This record gives sequence, structure tokens and C-alpha cells, in this order.
Amino acid sequence: MQVEQGESLAIVGASGSGKTTLLSILAGLDSASEGDVTLCQQNLSQLDEEQRAELRRDNVGFIFQQFLLVPALTALENVMLPAELKGDRQAKHLAEQWLAKVGLAERHHHYPNQLSGGEQQRVAIARAFISQPKVLFADEPSANLDSDNGQIIEDLLFELNQQSGTTLVLVTHEQKLAQRCARQIRLQAGMIVDS
Ligand SMILES: Nc1ncnc2c1ncn2[C@@H]1O[C@H](COP(=O)(O)OP(=O)(O)OP(=O)(O)O)[C@@H](O)[C@H]1O
Ligand SMILES: [Mg+2]
Repeated sequence: MQVEQGESLAIVGASGSGKTTLLSILAGLDSASEGDVTLCQQNLSQLDEEQRAELRRDNVGFIFQQFLLVPALTALENVMLPAELKGDRQAKHLAEQWLAKVGLAERHHHYPNQLSGGEQQRVAIARAFISQPKVLFADEPSANLDSDNGQIIEDLLFELNQQSGTTLVLVTHEQKLAQRCARQIRLQAGMIVDS
């Protein structure tokens, strides 16, 4: 499969069909037992762990199905983290802006365990957006949200895709969200059966 720069692609399929696995392999978080992945002109299998981490830091945003926030950091600190790692002096200011955009201006100093599932999801989304990644991988980004907040997040994803040219690769069970993407692929038992 190939995803063009600036494209939006939905990966759909039954639970256990391999959507999260595929997303992790594409993002260089997991390595494939066979085949190659080229991400931003680089063959991932030819990079070591550190080089892959660097490539992700500079180019990739990831919204995980299980949020994966750092428990000992506040919402604001979690969102700042990728920008700080890049040495961005505006990290705090940017993090405040992104938290406001996802509707969490009042939750800066809360720790993940003091936030609801949907609020944690929105922190994770602000964290993925802060470094304005070239490619954004999102694993069921609106699954834990009510319809209003789900809509805000979906609109932000496509705003980033259309205004900043961010390539969007997302996994979803929601047909409406999948249909907003330019293209869909369907997985069945680890194979692409329809694209
Ligand atoms: N770390 C692992 N070790 C062994 N098997 C795994 C591991 N992670 C996932 N699997 C298996 O690989 C298959 C695909 O899992 P994956 O998480 O990619 O599914 P999914 O399509 O994302 O499902 P869901 O919609 O429930 O999130 C499943 O059968 C799962 O049990
Ligand atoms: Mg999954």
C-alpha cells in the first residue's frame, strides 16, 4: 500500500483484523517480520532504534487507542513534551493553545488519572498536534468521546490535513469518519481485502 503526502486514509476492519498492528508498523513503532516500510523517503528497516525515534520526533504524530499519557506529568506537560524534545522555546505557549483548541483550557494542571477517558483522549490529541507533524497516525481518535467532542476532534484532524497538508492515516469503526477520508482500505485477518 502507498499513502501520498497530504492524503487522508481510513483503515477499517473487524476487531482483531490487524489495524493497530499495521498503524504501529507504518509509524515505525513496531517492525514487520516481512516487507519494508518507507516513511518520509526513509526505509525504516535500515534505521536503528535511535534513528527511527528521531524520524518520528521530527515527522510523526501518533494518537494511540489507549492514549499513553505520561502519568507523572500534568495535561499541559504531556502536551508540551514533543515540542520540548524538539527544543521549541514556544512549547508552553503552544501547549496552552492546543489544550484550548481541544476544549481543555481549564484542565492544564490535572494529571491523567484526574481526567475522564474523553479528556485524556483530547490531551493525547493536543500532544499529537503540537509539533505539526508531516504524518499523523490516529487509532480510533474519537472512539472515547461524546458526539460533540468527537466532532470537534474530527474537524481538527481534517483542518490539519487540509490547511497544513498533514498526511492523515486513521483507524476507525465509524463509517461516517471513514467516509470523510479521501480513501479507505479494509483489513481482514491481517490482509488488505479492499482499497
Ligand atoms: N503483542 C502482540 N502479541 C501477539 N499477538 C498480538 C499482539 N498484539 C496484537 N496481537 C494480535 O494480532 C491481531 C491484530 O491485533 P490488532 O491490535 O492489530 O487488531 P485491531 O484490528 O486493531 O483490533 P481492535 O479493533 O480491537 O483494536 C489480533 O489477533 C491480536 O490478538
Ligand atoms: Mg486496535
